[in-house]
Amino acid sequence: MRMYDIIEKKRDGQALTTEEINYFINGYTNGEIPDYQVSALLMAIYFQDMNNEERAQITKAMVESGDQIDLSDIAGIKVDKHSTGGVGDTTTLILAPLVASVGVPVAKMSGRGLGHTGGTIDKLEAVPGFHVEINNNEFIDLVNKNKVAVVGQSGNLTPADKKLYGLRDVTATVNSIPLIASSIMSKKIASGADAIVLDVKTGAGAFMKELKDAKALAEAMVTIGNKVGRNTMAVISDMSQPLGNAIGNALEVHEAIQTLQGNGPDDLTELCLTLGSQMVVLANKAETLEEARLKLQDNLNNGKALEQFKVFLKSQGGDTTVVDHPDSLPQATYKVELPAKTSGSVANIIADDIGTAAMMLGAGRATKESTIDLAVGIVLHKKIGDTVDAGEPLLTIHSNSEEVEEVKEKLYKSISITKEAVEAPTLIYDTVTK
Ligand code: URA
Ligand code: CA
Repeated sequence: MRMYDIIEKKRDGQALTTEEINYFINGYTNGEIPDYQVSALLMAIYFQDMNNEERAQITKAMVESGDQIDLSDIAGIKVDKHSTGGVGDTTTLILAPLVASVGVPVAKMSGRGLGHTGGTIDKLEAVPGFHVEINNNEFIDLVNKNKVAVVGQSGNLTPADKKLYGLRDVTATVNSIPLIASSIMSKKIASGADAIVLDVKTGAGAFMKELKDAKALAEAMVTIGNKVGRNTMAVISDMSQPLGNAIGNALEVHEAIQTLQGNGPDDLTELCLTLGSQMVVLANKAETLEEARLKLQDNLNNGKALEQFKVFLKSQGGDTTVVDHPDSLPQATYKVELPAKTSGSVANIIADDIGTAAMMLGAGRATKESTIDLAVGIVLHKKIGDTVDAGEPLLTIHSNSEEVEEVKEKLYKSISITKEAVEAPTLIYDTVTK
């Protein structure tokens, strides 16, 4: 088999065989096929697309390029949730204990944040003592015992994806549905979940800015998941503005606690109930979405979800006093309000730019090596559609530096206020099932 022929075939719009896909994925992972040939093939895929069979095969080949996590020693159907990324997305912190509280085993592998989106592990590390350095056996034992545990990503998961993603990044081939879908799904499948709920974001702060593109990505991922034997569905949700009110690590832990107490922001609570109900049904812990939602709602109201959060934090070394005394979370020295310059309705809160402002405060990593400040971030007091009077605070900046002028300027530019009434954006656009 020759890489040249594979490139030519895809260039001319033909479908690649399983053997051809395996040949190029294995050859590239081993370093036998050079970057320039794979670059050419990626560009051909970008223009010619892949059919559903090819998409499933490339995903499988990437899964098999490295370690695969075996969760078979955990009783029950393991359901994972994956978000395509957004700003202030606190859902994992809430969903993990919430669905565990109704008996769904949550064996969560998470990452750290890069750029303006936060990582679940960074957020959890804002709880004093909490750590994710547990070995595979401890991880499995904890899930069997407590129904929930979170571990950092293992070293050699989907090496083919790591190499390909790096190459796509410098060859203008990131933005391709078959390549994005296979990249995301390969990581989820290698992490061992039996079933997968995808939260595909759309809007200004999302990877897929347009609803039709988010839908195409959701359909591609759902098709791949089901083709390779994992029950997969997707929810398409709004990321035109940040989710919930808090953006920043400790601030989002606080927000998660409030939500688990039943006092969270409406959008965050609703998204958690939507995604959580799907997880509960896929795990066979309820017959219908309505029954699942009632169970979750009950556990938010009766304290069981919050209790599960305490058990989870404690089992991984975390100080559970943060739950009843959120003041014991890391606190920023300066709290600066951003007053509205005019009266009217909030028309835009550009999620990307708010994320960047939080990163400027130190809440996110500019590069992989940056250290982050767990205490800092932004708390919104107004969301799109809310009315505001001139001088009323739009948000509070939590900073450890007295100098916040540049951040304030950035924030003013990312929030717009109009005289006309504005409707709050739709939160859940669609669901995609097999
Ligand atoms: N996230 C991924 O993991 N892969 C992509 O290709 C795009 C976003
Ligand atoms: Ca949030």
